[in-house]
Amino acid sequence: MTTQYTLPSAWVDELIEVRRTLHQYPEVGLEEVETTRRIVAYLDAHGIERLDYPLSTGVLAVVRGRHRGPCVAVRADIDALPIEEQTGLPYASKIAGTMHACGHDFHTACVLGAARLAKQVADSASSFAGTILFVFQPAEELGVGAQAILDTGVLRDFQVGAILGEHNNPLLEFGKIGVKAGPLMGSVDEFRIVVRGVGGHAAVPQFTVDPILVAANLVAGLQHVVSRAVSPLDSVVVTVGMFHAGTARNVIPGEAVVEGTVRCLQPSAQDVVEQRLKEFVLNTVQAYGATADIEYERQLPCLVNDARLAQLMAESAAAVVGAQNVVEAEPTLAGEDFAVYQQHLPGCFFWVGTGKPHGWHHPSFDVDERMLKVTSEVFVHAALAWLEAHR
Ligand code: NI
Repeated sequence: MTTQYTLPSAWVDELIEVRRTLHQYPEVGLEEVETTRRIVAYLDAHGIERLDYPLSTGVLAVVRGRHRGPCVAVRADIDALPIEEQTGLPYASKIAGTMHACGHDFHTACVLGAARLAKQVADSASSFAGTILFVFQPAEELGVGAQAILDTGVLRDFQVGAILGEHNNPLLEFGKIGVKAGPLMGSVDEFRIVVRGVGGHAAVPQFTVDPILVAANLVAGLQHVVSRAVSPLDSVVVTVGMFHAGTARNVIPGEAVVEGTVRCLQPSAQDVVEQRLKEFVLNTVQAYGATADIEYERQLPCLVNDARLAQLMAESAAAVVGAQNVVEAEPTLAGEDFAVYQQHLPGCFFWVGTGKPHGWHHPSFDVDERMLKVTSEVFVHAALAWLEAHR
């Protein structure tokens, strides 16, 4: 593709204002009422068609080319986090205890810009065949927003053939776009293990089954599941984030509770870890004469990029930022509910290099807004390239 789609600087200025307003008034998942209102206001001001689907928060919009054709979706997430902002920015959060600490305000503005640019192309003499669906998804941080969008039926109704999304990445050098085929982000599983022993006096342990000792061995041994059940070439993390037991120094309690999370980069590893973790827990507690209840819940699948879409995305990014600024994306075991869409249709999620010192979810997190313009343009390039390839 040789055509350039460029966001005029006046549009960029307006979008940065929109982003800063969103940043000042962050709302956590499923409470994005004002955020939704601001997105609607921007879309309406620029004549972009909104779709009427039952969503309590979040917005669906569509840009139709002059000719009939396939449909591709572009997705932003819009929610914030329960974090007290410490950036000291002039447009820092005005809402106590809530912050856009993952840059979803930036994502929202990027996709608003993409929608406006796509609308301009659609209305021009060089219009396209097909439809671009713009998804402003709520509640990514809660891991339920993508499913809420799927539940509306909009992807089915529009026969969406592919979905594109991005995340700012402070670890990626400013100005770079990171694209990668295959696994990019981790699955998210959570577990809760209740170890039941026999309580008693701390000085006569022979008459007890000490659940703290059993649970401590579980904490240590779970790391062996990672190191001995999974290929060292696969990426897996098991983290115990909570360990609760006991009420007094001289009492062996009756139970101990261990809770944590499992992250895998490869879907195949996810199955292995779940099975081996459960076997390890049950066999270990049995060896000590204790019992255990295990709750194990899969919250998000691995985010795996479609190879052909990743290729198209890399080419589109190169058209905007130059091939020298398109790099292989570094995977992370953080989770992302964009992966939920990919269970139903091909998707590609890419990194936008915002090169800032603080990582996601940090109280001093920030993005470099200068990447807004190119991100909007990359989305439009990629969406139009996909429509062209599938007409
Ligand atoms: Ni995020």
